[in-house]
Amino acid sequence: SLSPIEAAKRRAAYKAVEDHFDTSYRYIGIGSGSTVVYVVEAIVAKGRDVTSKMAFIPTGDQSKQLIIEAGLPLGSIDSLPPVEDVPSEMGRENALHVATGQQDLGLKGKRESLDVAFDGADEIDEDLNCIKGGGACLFQEKLVATSAKKFICVADSRKLQPRLLTSWKTIPIEIAPLAAPTIKRILITLGSPDPRIRQGGSAKAGPVVTDNGMWIMDAPFSPLLISDDIKDGVKGDGTDGIWEVHQLGRRIKRIVGVLEVGLFYGRNGGQVANAGEEGGGQKP
Ligand code: A5P
Repeated sequence: SLSPIEAAKRRAAYKAVEDHFDTSYRYIGIGSGSTVVYVVEAIVAKGRDVTSKMAFIPTGDQSKQLIIEAGLPLGSIDSLPPVEDVPSEMGRENALHVATGQQDLGLKGKRESLDVAFDGADEIDEDLNCIKGGGACLFQEKLVATSAKKFICVADSRKLQPRLLTSWKTIPIEIAPLAAPTIKRILITLGSPDPRIRQGGSAKAGPVVTDNGMWIMDAPFSPLLISDDIKDGVKGDGTDGIWEVHQLGRRIKRIVGVLEVGLFYGRNGGQVANAGEEGGGQKP
């Protein structure tokens, strides 16, 4: 039987699929991490009649294996029609609770590639901004998320915090190995006390190499402000080491050698659905 946390993730995943998986969909994004495994389980339960007409788009090698092993048709993001107007930032909002969050990326009426993308997160704030990249898949996750009409974040309640970097302590950044020393120096000037290159499991392993041949720099920062905190002289522009989510995301993205930053943001009126307590399943 599942631990309480695993059971919560599974309930959240089934609720996300119940609320946001339509049998008319063609292209479905499948994210990375342990929670998404239950999303795939819930999708498989819809039956082959439904899923065989669809293509499932992975966000990395783990997610690709998950799709293949579940017997779902595999697609790839670069074989789909391109989105005409990819927002440079996530039109964020979304998030969950013992459940799921929905993000409307504001792409309606355009030529979206994906009908929906389901993914986990490492931490989510009140505005439904998230930190992602704990699984080192953040670039492909952002590519898939920004190519989808809807982004559905599935997570257990521990991950929902008032502000980012409350319980999760670092921002994952996917970087070109050659630029690592420069990027580290710049991050320190932005107020990160001790940015580190993520290492593999054993002393022999060396840096974690992503599915894109990059490294991950984990950069600690003080808890991040949300847009509403910017008032009464509070700027969130890094003064005194205090940053607001969007401003820090854009600043890090500007550093040469940064492929992508693990801050997913952009407030767009998301909703939080609560999958309920054990045996519950009540609506929010
Ligand atoms: C992968 O890079 C992350 O963004 C994952 O989405 C995140 O780590 C969620 O994983 P779990 O569902 O295992 O917590």
